[in-house]
Amino acid sequence: MKWPERGPPGRYAYVNGRYLPHGQAAVHIEDRGLQLGDAIYEVFRAEAGQLLDETGHLDRLERSLAALELPMPVTRAALRLILRELLRRNRIRDGIIYLQVTRGAFRRDHPMPDMPAKPSLILTARAGDPAVAAARLAGGVKVITLPDERWARRDIKTTQLLPAVLAKTAAKRAGAAEAWLVDADGFVTEGGSTNGWIVDAAGTLITRPLSREILPGVTRGVVLAAAREAGLAVVERKFTVAEALQAKEAFLTSASGAAVPVVAIDGKAVANGHPGLLTLRLQALYAGKSGSGQNGIKG
Ligand code: PDD
Repeated sequence: MKWPERGPPGRYAYVNGRYLPHGQAAVHIEDRGLQLGDAIYEVFRAEAGQLLDETGHLDRLERSLAALELPMPVTRAALRLILRELLRRNRIRDGIIYLQVTRGAFRRDHPMPDMPAKPSLILTARAGDPAVAAARLAGGVKVITLPDERWARRDIKTTQLLPAVLAKTAAKRAGAAEAWLVDADGFVTEGGSTNGWIVDAAGTLITRPLSREILPGVTRGVVLAAAREAGLAVVERKFTVAEALQAKEAFLTSASGAAVPVVAIDGKAVANGHPGLLTLRLQALYAGKSGSGQNGIKG
């Protein structure tokens, strides 16, 4: 999600083994990521010098690569080092790392090339303002709802994001931070770049179960586990827009922000229009679970 706390791009990017000044980092014009969307990506968040949920993001990266029959471009251990080195070179303690793997440059043709893969690995980093992130977690955001016009394999984190681009542009123009995408039966699938949750009148947490229809959010998984561990009532089931409008609370999860309160849907206040107490509690539970202390970045 294009959160307002994101700053300008970091000074250095990583492309295929090299750390380059951001303005000089590039891939070939025949790259299949550019021409065919034949690429996958990950977004990692760093907070106070720690990479959050790093293992979960690396697991999903491998899963996305496998779906595209692409090999890991470097080992996991090397990738962990690259992530840290990129933060270090850019002097970022709070921010986002964007990682993309494309199939690489080949003469344009739709089928996967028969030749051995030569995937491109690209990473950029961007600092964020923790104060702005904290204000969003405290104050919440508005969402609008739109038909989900994406493809049938939304569980793969591909760079084919045009439907999300259109939906999130409409949201932004409507003064909202996110678009909740709605399937043909009136159920919310997820946000354009976040997973969606509600809390019903009984205090039960509700989020859509994993399937090909949504991205398996890493943050979603951590929040789900934290909620269950804390003994909260959780149900993974679909919910409709009508249910969301009646909900006691609603919130979003993504690497860009865990349990971001949703205070309005389509211009209508959720409950009293203020962040819900359970949502705020989940923010604290997430902070205790998100890997801080295990992923320390030295220096
Ligand atoms: N988006 N659903 C969609 C469609 C997403 O694009 C994302 C992540 C999520 C949340 O996943 P996670 O908790 O693993 O970040 C759910 C990233 C942040 C992005 O596109 O910038």
